[in-house]
Amino acid sequence: MQPPVTIITQNPHMRTIISLLNKVVNSESSILLIGETGVGKEIFAEYIHSISNRSNRPFVKIGLAALPSELLASELFGYEKGAFTNAFQQKKGLFEVANTGSIFLDDIDDVSIEMQIKLLRALESREIMRVGGTSTIPVDIRLISASKVNLKELMKRNLFRADLFYRITVVPVEIPPLRNRKEDISLLMDYYLNKFAPEKKLTLTPEALQAITLYDWPGNVRELRNVAQHVSLFAEKYVQVSDLPNEILSLSELPFTGCNCHLCLVEKGMSYTNIMECIETHIFQYTLNKTHGNQSEAARILHLSISTFRDKMKKLEVAGVDFHVQ
Ligand SMILES: Nc1ncnc2c1ncn2[C@@H]1O[C@H](COP(=O)(O)OP(=O)(O)OP(=O)(O)O)[C@@H](O)[C@H]1O
Ligand SMILES: [Mg+2]
Repeated sequence: MQPPVTIITQNPHMRTIISLLNKVVNSESSILLIGETGVGKEIFAEYIHSISNRSNRPFVKIGLAALPSELLASELFGYEKGAFTNAFQQKKGLFEVANTGSIFLDDIDDVSIEMQIKLLRALESREIMRVGGTSTIPVDIRLISASKVNLKELMKRNLFRADLFYRITVVPVEIPPLRNRKEDISLLMDYYLNKFAPEKKLTLTPEALQAITLYDWPGNVRELRNVAQHVSLFAEKYVQVSDLPNEILSLSELPFTGCNCHLCLVEKGMSYTNIMECIETHIFQYTLNKTHGNQSEAARILHLSISTFRDKMKKLEVAGVDFHVQ
């Protein structure tokens, strides 16, 4: 039996997701994991399988985006000898290999409509037919799928079938991006630094911690893991700002005049929300000054959509911040 997979998090929303999964894991319900690249969809799929009562049965993963439609059917459902030119012998498909265990269909948002129909048929009937076959084969599998995008949007554009959507989405789980769970950044960084260089016992300086907390991690945990791996090769004892890659540094170089942000990060008794508000206020103030009050330009510099920028600004104004451009 495989040891259970560990998901590192101290974010309340992530904890809620994990306890929800712990509850549904032994039901047969299909789970859809939704999230940006690198948020942990695959590790969640592994976690679900590892804590389920199927954990000592097969766990089969397949990236649906990687294969052209014609190959996908034979990959998923197998084929009989002679089904096509190179089918010299019979081959089991991944549904059959996963029988009695779990199957992880990654990138389900990339599947063609034609393939969606075939998938739905297999999932509804709980049986498959090999390509070129004449009889059906029953399969008992727990289905876990993953999507990078909101499938309802694809449904509206007729790119995803509603019947398949409801079949795979009994339990939808949206994994938040790392920038929306800032408390996980330092936790994961410590975890990976220790994993890659346990003997170095690396710690981040307050400035380096500030820089990684301010960065928006578009590649999410995968990007953070790569940065940790890189840093662990070069840093000695303390991880300095200069050990971090350039893209992370651009925001940390903002002059936090009038606010000891690197102090407020370590000030005892200051709540996480207040620390973040303090930092956000100064970033917004600085960027707005730089753009002479132009919000669209400021949003662009910060890699935020204009609506997110305005929402955040409004939230800070409600909390009492007065943004005046100098
Ligand atoms: N909470 C976590 N704790 C520990 N490691 C994590 C966590 N989340 C993600 N990882 C690690 O980050 C990397 C990326 O995660 P994963 O492959 O699960 O992302 P994904 O959402 O499937 O990405 P993609 O959409 O690009 O396939 C992996 O090495 C994974 O082990
Ligand atoms: Mg993945």
